Amino acid sequence: MSRIVKFYGSIIGKKAVVAVTGLMLLGFLILHSIGNLKGFLPPNSAGEPDIDVYAHFLTVMGEPLLPDMVALWAIRIILLVALTLHVVTVSKLAAHNRRARPVAYRNHKHVAASLPARWMFVTGGIILTFLIIHLLQFTTGTIDPTPIVYGCVYSNLYYAFQKWWILLFYIGALSMVGLHVFHGAWSAFQTLGIDNPDRNRKLRGFALGAAAFLVIGFLSLPTLMYFDVMKHPNAYGESCVVSDGRAE
Ligand code: HEM
Repeated sequence: MSRIVKFYGSIIGKKAVVAVTGLMLLGFLILHSIGNLKGFLPPNSAGEPDIDVYAHFLTVMGEPLLPDMVALWAIRIILLVALTLHVVTVSKLAAHNRRARPVAYRNHKHVAASLPARWMFVTGGIILTFLIIHLLQFTTGTIDPTPIVYGCVYSNLYYAFQKWWILLFYIGALSMVGLHVFHGAWSAFQTLGIDNPDRNRKLRGFALGAAAFLVIGFLSLPTLMYFDVMKHPNAYGESCVVSDGRAE
C-alpha cells in the first residue's frame, strides 16, 4: 500500500494516473459512440429501435449470474472513480507546477509549451460541465426541454435533436471532446513511454483518428435527426409512442 501512495506522491506517478484514467475514459467514449450508432440499425421483429434494445441490454447484462443493474452500476462506479482520479490528479499536477514557478513569466511567448496544457484545462472544464448537463438530461431526465421517457432512447434523442440549440450545444461540446482527446491521447502515450520515433506517426494517427471518430460518430445521428433524415419515432412499434405536445 505504501508503495502505491509513494508512487502517487511522485510527479511521474501522478502523470501515469492521469494517462491511464484518461485512456479508460477514452475507451468508454468509444463504446458509447458505437452504442449511439445503433440508432442507425433497423428495429427488431417487435418494432423496437435497436438502440432501445441495446439500452435495455445494458441494464440486464450479466444475467442470470447478476441481478439487473449490478453490472451497469459496477461499470458506472469504475468510470466515476477514473473520472475523479483524472480530475483531482490533474489539479494536483497544476498546483505543483504553479508552486515550482512562483514568479509569473513576463513574456508569454516563452511559455508556448504550456499552452496545450492550458487548453486541456479549458476543454476539460467545459466537458465536465457538459457531462453534468448531459446526465441530467438523458439519464435522470431532470432537465427535460423535450420529452424524456425511460427506455425510449431513440425517441428521447429524436425529440431533443429537433431543437437547433440542443444540436448546437452538442456540436460545441463534441468539438471540445475532439480537441481534448487528440492532445490527451498523444500525451498519454508519451507519459507511458509508448512513443518512439518509429511509431510516433502511428500513435499521432491513432490520437487523431480517435478524436475524429468520436466527433463524427457522436454527431452523425443527432444531425440527421435534426434534418429529418431519420425516421420519426412513432414510425417504429407501439412500445415508445411519445407525444411531443405537437399534433403530428
Ligand atoms: C452527441 C453526443 C451524445 C449523445 C447523443 C449521447 C446520448 C446519451 C444517451 C441517450 C444516454 C442515456 C442512455 C440510456 O438512457 O440508457 C447517455 C448516457 C451517458 N452519456 Fe452520453 N451522449 C453523447 C455524448 C456523450 C459524451 C461526450 C459523454 C462524456 C463526456 C457522455 C457520457 C455519458 C454518460 C456517462 C452516460 C451515462 C451512462 C450510464 O447510464 O451510466 N455522452 N448518453
